[in-house]
Amino acid sequence: MADLRTDTYQLGSLTVRRLGYGAMQLTGPGVLGPPKDRRAAISVVREAVELGVNHIDTSDIYGPHVANEIIREALHPYRDGLVIATKVGAVRGKAGSWDPAFRAADIERAVHDNLRNLGLDLLDVVNFRGMFSAHGPAAGPIEEPLTTLAELQRRGLIRHIGLSNVTPSQVAEGRKLVEIVCVQNHYNLAHRADDELIDHLAAARIAYVPFFPLGGFTPLQSRALSAVASRLGAPPLQVALAWLLRRSPNILLIPGTSSSTHLRQNLASASLALSAEDVEALNL
Ligand SMILES: NC(=O)c1ccc[n+]([C@@H]2O[C@H](COP(=O)([O-])OP(=O)(O)OC[C@H]3O[C@@H](n4cnc5c(N)ncnc54)[C@H](OP(=O)(O)O)[C@@H]3O)[C@@H](O)[C@H]2O)c1
Repeated sequence: MADLRTDTYQLGSLTVRRLGYGAMQLTGPGVLGPPKDRRAAISVVREAVELGVNHIDTSDIYGPHVANEIIREALHPYRDGLVIATKVGAVRGKAGSWDPAFRAADIERAVHDNLRNLGLDLLDVVNFRGMFSAHGPAAGPIEEPLTTLAELQRRGLIRHIGLSNVTPSQVAEGRKLVEIVCVQNHYNLAHRADDELIDHLAAARIAYVPFFPLGGFTPLQSRALSAVASRLGAPPLQVALAWLLRRSPNILLIPGTSSSTHLRQNLASASLALSAEDVEALNL
């Protein structure tokens, strides 16, 4: 069984283990429709929680609805201490495009979709996902979606608010509007644009949740990763997760997988000890 004895971190008032699970791989290809094997998808989510995961990242736009429906079928009624984080700010177009949807009515509808499909009365964490450029975080107005989330928080539908796919300026602006408990941006061994932001958030005790921790649709590969992995006798992607855990204490991992074997490999990254020499080689 994977060793999950790793540090925990606060998502606002909620304590989560640093190794979590991302639900985007629970759908069909292109994050659309049902998975090839629904029973296997249900079983991998159950296994994650049985192995100690208490932080699941999802969104009602995965499928759409499919990932949340599978989480609900696998785990409802949810055990105490399980934290489900979701995100709003986008909808899926007819051909599967990811389209912005961040007016007040869009945000409110998305929160209700998540509540209904997850079978919850209160969402633990809702991230507003910036959709101002197809190429990554970009300047754009975040006041309307964040004040809408704050209003839904006041009404008791949301516990905590986070941001995703945002610039450091948007993080600063967001923190003036509401309490931000986490930032979820693209970051991994090969994509480190957020280095400064991570350190800044760590100092403010705000979680940083890298999406695509394994490279997403293009799994990470590098000579350094292969060299360290073969020295340790570990799968390369497990090394990539161990590096992230070492990178900063405020990093929470949400690797996505539809495979029980990969799930176990990923969770075992918590007990993979990287030497200073390994870290130096990977940092290059
Ligand atoms: N905020 C955002 O905009 C945003 C964007 C993307 C993702 N996310 C979140 O971040 C989570 C993680 O991202 P992701 O799932 O897209 O990408 P990821 O975790 O970087 O990588 C997932 C891919 O790696 C494979 N994989 C997983 N573990 C593996 C292992 N041990 N060995 C070999 N291959 C392995 C998976 O395939 P198998 O199924 O075969 O294991 C899948 O193809 C998502 O689930 C989602 O919750 C958020």
